[in-house]
Order: sequence, then structure tokens, then C-alpha cells
Amino acid sequence: MTDFNFPAGFLWGASTSAHQIEGNNTNSDWWHLEQRPGSFVSEPSGDACDSWHRWPEDLALAGGAGLNAYRFSIEWARLEPTPGHFSNAQLAHYERLIEGCLAQGLKPLVTLHHFTLPAWLAAQGGWAAPEAVDRFARYCQFVAPILSPVELICLINEPNMVALFPVLATAGMEALTATVPPLDQATVSGLIEAHQAGRETLRLLLPGARLGWSIAAQTYHSEPGAAAATAAYQDESEDVFYRASAGDDWIGLQAYTCRRLKLIDGALAPAPKPGSRRTLTGWEYYPAALAECVRRVAQLTGLPIVVTENGLATADDADRIDYTGSALTGLAQAMADGVQVEGYFHWSLLDNYEWGSYAPTFGLVQVDRQTFVRTPKPSLAWLGQLARRNRLTID
Ligand code: BGC
Repeated sequence: MTDFNFPAGFLWGASTSAHQIEGNNTNSDWWHLEQRPGSFVSEPSGDACDSWHRWPEDLALAGGAGLNAYRFSIEWARLEPTPGHFSNAQLAHYERLIEGCLAQGLKPLVTLHHFTLPAWLAAQGGWAAPEAVDRFARYCQFVAPILSPVELICLINEPNMVALFPVLATAGMEALTATVPPLDQATVSGLIEAHQAGRETLRLLLPGARLGWSIAAQTYHSEPGAAAATAAYQDESEDVFYRASAGDDWIGLQAYTCRRLKLIDGALAPAPKPGSRRTLTGWEYYPAALAECVRRVAQLTGLPIVVTENGLATADDADRIDYTGSALTGLAQAMADGVQVEGYFHWSLLDNYEWGSYAPTFGLVQVDRQTFVRTPKPSLAWLGQLARRNRLTID
């Protein structure tokens, strides 16, 4: 047993996203999807956690527990509810949120796009629309003035998940569980171009900011005969975004589980491990994913890494502590081997809206669905104490 000391200034945070916690995000494409009969979304987001009003409580919980960082997203659909109409009042809300973080001793890591688009842009074709790139760059320009106190900016969250949304819209959620669908290529190109255009815009306006984006990383296990097809799939669904990160200042990595694949009639298909332990999202309980992904991404990109999401959906908070302790031990071992990691943000601060359902609970804090009362779980104090010590005992 040895003690691993995390570097001074290591970020210990919790992550959230606007649509999942704020509530009533009525100008977004997801809100409309949630209201549409027959869409692939089963439960609407509604009031979510009412963090639009209760964010001071959220920050006080995170800061009070000992965390030193907070990741949240700015909602484009609120800032530009109709094309070209930008709201200074809504922008001022996020400026107060940034000031609130700093007042609580939390370094803000700000995401500019976390899954939701203004409904008007989605109606024009979303990221595949010819105007999406310019529109995103203009949105970045509008937000820039409030971001001067922010060091780490994540332009886009999980472009590789976003490029699956058009597939889900036509094939439904089963497309993800029963098959291994390819990403929508027009969306992939739009996202990469938008990321690069947004980066150029912010570089000029915020020379001190460090710019990057967060990729959904997977660790793959393939059955005999499926290795080449799995590697090709990982290349086109994940590595394409690492290549497009050249020129970024850091890379965000989000890892939860592993994916097991096999070949059926020449096509890749999920091959869940029989009897394996599952979380409330149905994902395999696999804390080693974090370290495996961190080592791979460091090698592929050479960029400093920030773990912008990691966690699990469980009703048993003791499981959350076990899983996270094990994931962090692997992370510390990778760092001891020389991998450069600047921070760890747990997903999520709150039990929140999980894209179609409130059932999978990822939070360090429980939220009453009627009263919005927050009740911290033991895992919040546990992670906060680790943050204060900045040290972990590893094998
Ligand atoms: C997303 C989050 C989501 C989490 C757990 C990530 O794909 O960025 O928005 O809630 O995973 O499902």
C-alpha cells in the first residue's frame, strides 16, 4: 500500500448540465422531443431539479463538502431563443453562476453545448445544417464576455453521442441496445467544424482560456473474430474526435463502463457478459473503464486530460463509493505511471434528468421530485474529504 499525492491544484469537482437540472428549458429541441407523442423520449424533463433558481444551494453543497470545482453548462436555447435574438438577461444569469462558483471556492468548468440545441436550429437540421457552424461561432462570441474568469472551457459535450441522436430519432432507443449503429456522418462533420470555429472565435476573445471538448470514451472487449471490426468502429465513433482535438489545450474524457461486442453475420452486435453486475442504466459495473480510457486517450492525443464525467446510476450509495474509489485508484495508478490528468469531475452532483427518465440516479445529492429539497448522500462527504486530502492510498 502506498499513498498517491495528487498534484497541487488538482480539480475535484462534480458535473451537471443545464437541461438535466435547470427545468423548463422550453426553447430547446429536447423539450420539444419530450412533448412529441411517439418520440424516443419516454419521460419529460419538466421542472428538472429547479436549479435555474436553486443553483446557490447546489454550489453551497459542492463547496461545503470540500470540492474545489464545478462543471455546468450554458444553455444556448435560453440565450438565443429565436435566431439572432440574444438575451442579455439570460446571459447575466450565467455570469452570476460563475461568480457564485468563485465565491464558494469552486473553479468553474463551463460547457457551451451539452446535448441540447435551440429548437429553431434543430428544425433546420441541427449540426448537419449548413448554418450550424456560423451560428455556433456567433453564440460563442456572445457568451465570451462572461467567461473571462473561467480557465477551462468545454465547447461541446460528447460529440460522439450527439452524432447518434439522428439515428435514435429514426430507429428508437433499441438501436443502441440491440445493434451498434454507425454515427450520422453529416452531424460528425458539422460538430468537428463547429468545434474548430468556436475555438478560433474564443481564442481571439479569451486568450487566457484553455479550450477543449469532452468525448465519451469506451473501453472495448471483443469476442474472438470481432477485434478488427471493433477497432474500426472505435476509430470512426471515437478516435475521429481525438484527431479533431489537435490544437486544443486539453481534452475532456468521460468514462463509465465497457462495451462488449461480437460479430453476427458480419455485423457488430452487443455481447453483454452473462451474469455481470449491472447499474440502473443497464451498463456493466466496470470501474476499470476510467483508467483504461485515460491511458489510451493520453497516448492517442498527448493532451492533458480532465476527467469531466465518471460515476454510476445506483440506488445504493455504498455502491457509488465502491465504484468511485476503485475508478480513482486506477486513475491514480495511471498518473503515477506518468499520465497527465488535471482533474476529476464526478457525474453527477444531483439526481437529475437522465435524457428520458428520472429513474437512473447518478447523484451525490438526492433531489425530492416534488419539493426539490436536496439531501446529500454519504458519497458527497466521502468525495469532499478525498478532495481536501488530495491523496489516495493505492496498492
Ligand atoms: C452525458 C450526461 C449523462 C451521463 C450519464 C453522459 O453521456 O454527458 O449528460 O447524463 O452520461 O448517462
